[in-house]
Amino acid sequence: MTRSRFDSLAPVNCRPLRGVIFDMDGVLTDTIEFHYQTWQRLADEEGIPFTRQANEALRGLSRRDSLLRILQGRVLPEAKIQELLERKNRYFRSFIDTMTAEYLLPGVQVFLHDLRQAGIKTAVASASQNVYIVIEKLGIASDIDVITNVYDVDRPKPAPDVFLYAAQQLGLGPQDCVVFEDAESGVEAARAAQMRVIGLGDAAQVGAADWVLPGLEGVRWHDVQAKLTPGV
Ligand code: G6P
Ligand code: MG
Repeated sequence: MTRSRFDSLAPVNCRPLRGVIFDMDGVLTDTIEFHYQTWQRLADEEGIPFTRQANEALRGLSRRDSLLRILQGRVLPEAKIQELLERKNRYFRSFIDTMTAEYLLPGVQVFLHDLRQAGIKTAVASASQNVYIVIEKLGIASDIDVITNVYDVDRPKPAPDVFLYAAQQLGLGPQDCVVFEDAESGVEAARAAQMRVIGLGDAAQVGAADWVLPGLEGVRWHDVQAKLTPGV
């Protein structure tokens, strides 16, 4: 058979992966519980109904979008909204102050080491304004090449902006990257960025991912590459 000039061009989703972009909360560290407790405290203080289950739907949303979801259509003056956002963050920061490497989720340290050994670039692309301090507290800042959040771009997740920005900062294209996400909005954002995506946790949240795993524990880089780059 004669070779076409396109033979050497593998389909986009078959290109070997060269970069990993992590969401932070619920992927690298279990701050979801901290977020839940601080939102619950705020909601109780304001007499607004809120539950642990309702908190699940907030995964991946920005602080403001989370508050609007909790308010369920209640209209408040902007100054009150700002006060609530600041109070929520004050409560959350007191949790962050206590964080150490012990708050890394199982498997994260081994996986980051694996990525370094394989020469894979790494980024964190979070919805959290606290991303820098949390990464610092977790003791993994030197393992991450690029740290960014949705405040660096125009639109929060589920828009693709923060993942596209992270890839650009890594010097890679979307097709070179795989995203790790625990939230529906994050999986949607990664898909919109035309990146491959691994969903961690509940399939009800991350079922639209290319591969769903319980977490990073036991995950090895060569398995990810093999699973998401068939035939290479
Ligand atoms: C993450 C969490 C959300 C949280 C958001 C904002 O995406 O999954 O639950 O609301 O970050 O975090 P911040 O630290 O800015 O309040
Ligand atoms: Mg998350």
